[in-house]
Order: sequence, then C-alpha cells, then structure tokens
Amino acid sequence: MGYEYIKFEKEPTGVGILTIHRPKALNALNWDTLRDLGNFVENDLPKEKLRALIITGSGDKAFVAGADIAQMSGMSSTEFKDYVDYAHKVYGLITDNPCPSIAAINGYALGGGCELALACDIRIASEKAKLGFPEVKLGIFPGWGGSQRITRIMGNGKAKELIFTGEMVSAEEALSHGLVEKVVPHEVIMKEAKELAESIAKRAPLAVSAAKKAVNSGSEMELQKALELEKTLIDSCFDTEDRAEGMKAFLEKRDPEFKGK
Ligand code: CAA
Repeated sequence: MGYEYIKFEKEPTGVGILTIHRPKALNALNWDTLRDLGNFVENDLPKEKLRALIITGSGDKAFVAGADIAQMSGMSSTEFKDYVDYAHKVYGLITDNPCPSIAAINGYALGGGCELALACDIRIASEKAKLGFPEVKLGIFPGWGGSQRITRIMGNGKAKELIFTGEMVSAEEALSHGLVEKVVPHEVIMKEAKELAESIAKRAPLAVSAAKKAVNSGSEMELQKALELEKTLIDSCFDTEDRAEGMKAFLEKRDPEFKGK
C-alpha cells in the first residue's frame, strides 16, 4: 500500500481513518492525490471488519481546498473531462461503499473538498472550518457532484446562493443549513469524529449498511418503490446471524457481539 498522498490507519474498534495528505497545498486534490484516494478506495479499503470510515485532511488548516487550480489551469479539455470523470467515480465509490463514512472537516472544505465531504454520509466540522464552492470565481461550477448533492441536502435556494456567490460560510452557518451535522471545538474534532464512528461501529454492520442503502437509494426513488426497497432490505437483515444475536442479547440483558454475518 505505497501511497504518498493519503494515509490510512485502522483502529481495533473497526474505525478506519483516511487522511488526505498534501498539506503544503491545503490538501488540494491534484491528479496524484486524487488517484491515490481513488486507488485506495477501490483496491485497498478493507472490506472486512471496517465498521466506519473517517475522512479528514492533513495538518491544522484544511480538510481539502478543492481541485488543484494550478494543475487545472494547464489542462486540455480532454484532460479536464478525465479529471472530472475520475473524481465522480471516486466520490461515487465513497458514497456507495457499504461502510458508513464521516467527514471530519478540520479546516477549509472548498470546491472539490466540500464535494468530498458531501460524498460522505455524515459531516462534523471544527468551529474553525470554512465551507463553500468558490468555483464560479474560476469560471467553472461545483462539478464533482456538488451541484447535485448539495441541493438534495439543503434545497435549491440556499444551495444556489452558495454556488452563485462562491462565498465561504462558517461552520455554524453550514450547520444551520444542514450542510454539516455537528460543529465542535477545533481541538476535539478527531475525538468527536472517533466517538461518533465508534458508536456506529458497535452496531450490527449489515443493518447499518442496509440502512445506508435504504436512505441513499430510497431518496432517489418514488415513494412506493422506496418503501418496497426498504421492505427487501429489512427482510435481508432479519435473516442475519447478527439479528438473532442482537435480539438474544437484548433479552439476556447483555451487549451484543456482532460479527457482520
Ligand atoms: N489548488 C492548488 N493549490 C492550492 C489550492 C487549490 N485549490 N488551495 C490552496 N492551494 C495552495 C496555495 O496555492 C498555496 O501554495 P503556495 O504556498 O505554493 O503559494 C498553499 O496552498 C497555501 O494556500 P494560501 O497561501 O492561499 O493560504 P491562505 O490561508 O492564504 O488561503 C484559501 C487559504 C482561502 C483556502 C486559499 O488557498 C484558496 O482560496 N484556495 C483555493 C480554494 C478554491 O478555489 N477551491 C476550489 C477549487 S476548484 C474545484 O474544486 C473544482 C471542482 O468543482 C471540483
């Protein structure tokens, strides 16, 4: 697993911490960094026993400051299209991964960085974080999934205000619009993210994954179809060993031991 621009560690609790590591450029996702992220998520993200994934940025200042502007400025149209296609693929892999993901936003989350956070299931921000989509200042717009994912989270009006102005918002303002779920003191961002991840990691993993699929896929469907999907998914949970263990443990007044089976 020789990656230069990402770091990964897995804790005994089943929580994985994936750090985008290019601090000298505020973790901006140039091709090499994006490729490291993509290769890792596609090939090396542990499939077994990973119960929750935290994504964060290296250093004290940024989560991810977006796509790499210096590199983009020299791209041909074809190269830019490949860059966008690949980012969509990588962010899609994160969104569709059965393992729940938490963005620990430890500083600037701008453009493609904010879009990476939106590809995660849950977002926690440091009180120092700043979020936004500065793309229109560069002659583009949030095109790594941002214009679509953000509108599904905060509604069209506020999303358009953010996208059309390119202005950053504080973590508190992001919270008030549902762009992040929680704001915490800067020094404890990783502690809080780990606590949240650990509380997810303790639960029945197949049930958590099924719930993620129900919410993600169901919210894209017409209600009746979504309700059918929900029934299929809960039925599949009922047939798991973990379901039997969870209910037995409740009746025996003890903590369950889930195996992901
Ligand atoms: N691309 C390339 N390099 C970047 C970068 C980016 N997105 N963001 C920061 N950097 C680099 C800076 O060029 C600088 O490098 P040097 O030291 O070599 O000059 C280094 O990171 C530190 O940045 P600053 O000196 O600018 O730090 P600051 O504290 O003064 O400002 C900031 C911080 C407000 C985040 C500012 O860096 C900034 O505005 N960055 C650009 C953010 C942005 O526009 N992101 C969107 C990119 S487009 C996109 O993401 C497209 C899409 O939809 C996918």
